Amino acid sequence: MNVKDELLSNLLHSASPLSGTELADRIGCSRMAISKGASALAADGYKISVSRSDGYKLEKSDVLSQQILEHVFNIPAFYFPVCESTMTEAKNLVNRGTSVPFAVVASRQERGRGRLGRSFFSPEGGVYLSIALPGTSIPNPDMLTTAASLAVSRSIEALTGLECAIKWVNDIYIHGRKAVGILTEGLVNMEEGGLDKAIIGIGVNLQKGDEKVPDELKDKLIYLYPEGNSPVTRSELAARITDEILSVLDEDFIDEYRSRCFILGSEITVIKNGIGRDAVALDVDDKAGLVVRYSDGSTETLSSGEVTLRI
Ligand code: BTN
Repeated sequence: MNVKDELLSNLLHSASPLSGTELADRIGCSRMAISKGASALAADGYKISVSRSDGYKLEKSDVLSQQILEHVFNIPAFYFPVCESTMTEAKNLVNRGTSVPFAVVASRQERGRGRLGRSFFSPEGGVYLSIALPGTSIPNPDMLTTAASLAVSRSIEALTGLECAIKWVNDIYIHGRKAVGILTEGLVNMEEGGLDKAIIGIGVNLQKGDEKVPDELKDKLIYLYPEGNSPVTRSELAARITDEILSVLDEDFIDEYRSRCFILGSEITVIKNGIGRDAVALDVDDKAGLVVRYSDGSTETLSSGEVTLRI
């Protein structure tokens, strides 16, 4: 490790300030090298306070780096400043034999993927996370995406206080607009059958960056912090979501999911193969299926697909 990385590691692990002399002794370099290392970290975006009496202290900084992820995640995590899609990177890592569970985080994605073959707008400022899990840790694969939406809602609420509602099946809405998208992909074991591994991808519109929002998304999405003043760092939120997903899988969570599902009782359009049908959303059953009643009086339980709210 070079001085800069060693300095970051020491500061990350110390709640109180460390003097230049103490740091120089620990790392085995001069105080001048520490000062230069601190400047290099500041240039990377880390906030380091320096006081003559106390020394160097790392303040909360919204920087994503491999070292930060290793510090905040409880499972192995891999950082990409930019990638096509964290889903693709996670799949590549699985194919290269990386043991699961692990997480992949990117600062931005060039070809973020959404559900139903759509793209996901992924500029700097958001959280782009994929979590690869062993199939054995997923008692009920059909409800994985439901579990993930609940875990993300809980994490956002705990860290920001913003109230999250879920639009079946797994879009998370804040103040009536989509703030988070979730995509799950399964890897099947062709020899033994069944779910071998699953990758859950989560994109959170945390704070607005410099990139222009495409016109077609302007009225649809919302940022948790449109002014860019998030009190929560991307790494903190990504790590919290990961922990919450790992723990929710063992819970009986359907009642909480149902209570967060804001479309129940509303008039909706059920979209199948591009064709919309008017219906009323009646309930979410115990397997997270959406029970709907169409205008001709017939009912159906949807296990996947897309619904939109009719206003
Ligand atoms: C959707 O709303 O249609 C789902 C969007 C899922 C986006 C996330 S961002 C991290 C991961 N990487 C991707 O390419 N997609 C998921």
